[in-house]
Order: sequence, then structure tokens, then C-alpha cells
Amino acid sequence: MEPENAHYTLKKIGVFLGTNPVTRKLTSLFFDYEHKSLNTTVDDIEYRNPVGLSAGFDKDGELTNIYPSIGFGLAELGSFTGEVCPGNPGRRLFRMVKSKAIVVWYGLNNQGAEKISARLKDVDFGKLRVGVNAAKSNVTPEFDLQESIDDYIKTMTCFKDIGDYFTINISCPNTQDGEPFVDRANLDALLTQVNEKIRPLTDRPIYVKLAADLELHEIDIIIDACVEHGYEGVVLTNLAKPGSNQEHIPAEYPSAQGLLPKGKGAMSGLPLQRISTNVIRHVYRRTRGKLTIIGVGGVFSAKDAYEKITSGASLLHMITTMIFDGPQNINEINRGLVKLLKQDGFETIAEAVGSRNPLPKLKGEAQEPSSDSQEAA
Ligand SMILES: Cc1cc2nc3c(=O)[nH]c(=O)nc-3n(C[C@H](O)[C@H](O)[C@H](O)COP(=O)(O)O)c2cc1C
Repeated sequence: MEPENAHYTLKKIGVFLGTNPVTRKLTSLFFDYEHKSLNTTVDDIEYRNPVGLSAGFDKDGELTNIYPSIGFGLAELGSFTGEVCPGNPGRRLFRMVKSKAIVVWYGLNNQGAEKISARLKDVDFGKLRVGVNAAKSNVTPEFDLQESIDDYIKTMTCFKDIGDYFTINISCPNTQDGEPFVDRANLDALLTQVNEKIRPLTDRPIYVKLAADLELHEIDIIIDACVEHGYEGVVLTNLAKPGSNQEHIPAEYPSAQGLLPKGKGAMSGLPLQRISTNVIRHVYRRTRGKLTIIGVGGVFSAKDAYEKITSGASLLHMITTMIFDGPQNINEINRGLVKLLKQDGFETIAEAVGSRNPLPKLKGEAQEPSSDSQEAA
């Protein structure tokens, strides 16, 4: 099936299964899994497990009834934008089967914050924790700083009473005006105004979602800004652009087959796995674990999930595994996590966070004797 049609069909099935208590119950008999060692509290929010759906699958927030039955502990909805967004024209979703990736050229299509928030305002999400992902409307190639900030604020205001946390998406690779909030001055303006206008309306944590293709110094600029402005965490990372990414088969990329203009679109899945884990490791060490990290990118198995957790992620997001391996994999990842925790002698997810990413010593802290110095002694 053509990938975008497959996406809509899958969503329709999900909406249908979610409408009726009987189909919800049946789905959960096949797919759901509970274990107390998966219960985790992050920024005062209790999650029944750390495995979440990533932003971009449910762009209009239509499937929240069914996610708990599939086994998800959380789902990030959106990205939602202030204005109604048709997204980019033409074909905009492609599979790269050998590279285990999806190429996305959607461009933030969604029904807009007002309509979606009106529909969701009285929905009881039950045991599902819900993230609201706000992005800037992709309707014009011109960037205007204040208009763009107002756009984020409009979405967040519409959703002030909906969901459990916010994500500010500054890293969509498919917009007409690029990623202007990688610039520190623009980012400062955005984070300041969100603090002034949104924090008084809600005490929910606010995370910032970063791109996968940033240089280390660019990551540091954003991370330092998040810490300085008192943001609770980061989502690491968004899709990877093909240009500098060595982890896919170039001939499989749709531009190589004339299906997408060169330089357009970006990849999910395996080409992102190592990159996003490395970014998680770096950010966890730089912030000494003080920012909450939601890890995302190429999680296909419990081992992949655990690697991101032990690198510093407290929660996880995923999409591509659902497409390639099927929704039962959410259950398998949760089951596998319970085994991996046990193997390492941990009773909770929180104990495992960052456990294989030791923090560098602070100035003045006693150094562990190295094996060399022990031998010398
Ligand atoms: C079809 C599709 C649409 C996406 N749309 C969004 C989006 O609207 N907002 C966003 O923050 N991320 C979006 N993403 C990125 C994902 O949230 C995630 O960061 C990325 O796919 C890596 O995770 P994965 O390898 O498990 O798919 C999208 C990804 C896919 C596959």
C-alpha cells in the first residue's frame, strides 16, 4: 500500500478499535502488558511504563482511546500548529526497507490547534499520559520572529488544560523557513515568552525537541538555553536529514529515484539510532542528568530501548518500529525491559537511567584510582 494511505488506514483502524469498550478490551488482551518495575515518575508525572508513541503518527490527536490497549505508557500528539496546515504538496511518505527507515516530507499537516483542542478538551485519557507537541505553522517561507513565537503560544494556550506535558518542536526538517530557533537569540526570545505567557496558565513540564543533525556546539547552545530558562527537559531527537547521514543506503533514498526533490525529507528509524543515542549520552553528561531526556530514534527492541535509558533517557518515544514490526512490538519492548532491569539488578526504570553513562568528575571531586595507578602502586 502507498505509505501515506497505509498511515491513514492504520489510523482509521485505531480509531475504530478505540471507540468501543469491547474492541479496546480485546486489543488489550492481545497487546497490553503491565509490570510494576516499569512504573516511573518523571517531573512529578506518573507513567505506567516509559514506552511512548512519538509525535507525527497522530497529527490530529484522534487515537488516544486505543494507545493504552496497545501497551503505550504515553503518547505525544501532534505536531499541532497555531494555523491549519495542509503540509507539503506531492508524495510525502516513503519506506526505505533495507535501511529500516521512513522518509518523511509531510511538512506539519494538521487541523490546527483550535479545532483539535476543542475536540480533545473533555477527553479522559485514563492511564495514558499525553504530551502535546507544538510546532510553528508551516504556511509561509518568510520567517518573522514575533509571529512565529505567537504561533507556538497560541497552540500552547489552546492546550493549556489538555495532556500532561508540552514539547516545543523547534526541529521539523520539512518546513519552508528552516529551523530558525537553533539561533540562540531567537531561542531566548521564544523560551522567555513561553515562560511569561504559558507558565502562569499551567504547571506542566515543558520540553524542547532537538534536531538530529546538529553539531555538538549547536546542541550545547540549545541545552544551555533550556537550563538557563528553567525548562524541564528535551526530546532527543527528531528526524535525520540524508546529507550528512552515513547510516543509510543512499540508492534507497527517494531523491535517488526521482521521487522527491534533492535535499527534501528526512529519515526516521535505524539511520537515526546511533546518532540520537550519542546525543542523549552527550546531553546527559553535559547537564549531569538535570534535564529530563525523552529518547527517540530507531528503537526497535528492548535492547535499543534499554541502551537509550542507560545512556540517560527517562522516557522513550517511537514510531518506525510500529510500522516495520507491528504494534505487538510495544508489548515486547516493555517485557524485554523488565528482564533487562532484572539482569542488571535494578528494581525501577529510574535506577537504570544513565547507569552506563558515568558523569565526568567535577573540578575538585576525588578521582577514582585508575587501573594504571593501582598497578603502579
Ligand atoms: C511519519 C512521521 C511523521 C513525523 N512527524 C513529526 C511531527 O509532526 N513532529 C515531530 O516532532 N516529529 C515528527 N516525526 C519524528 C518522530 O517523532 C521521531 O522523532 C522520529 O521518527 C524518530 O523515531 P523513530 O525512529 O522511532 O520513528 C515524524 C516521524 C514520522 C515517521
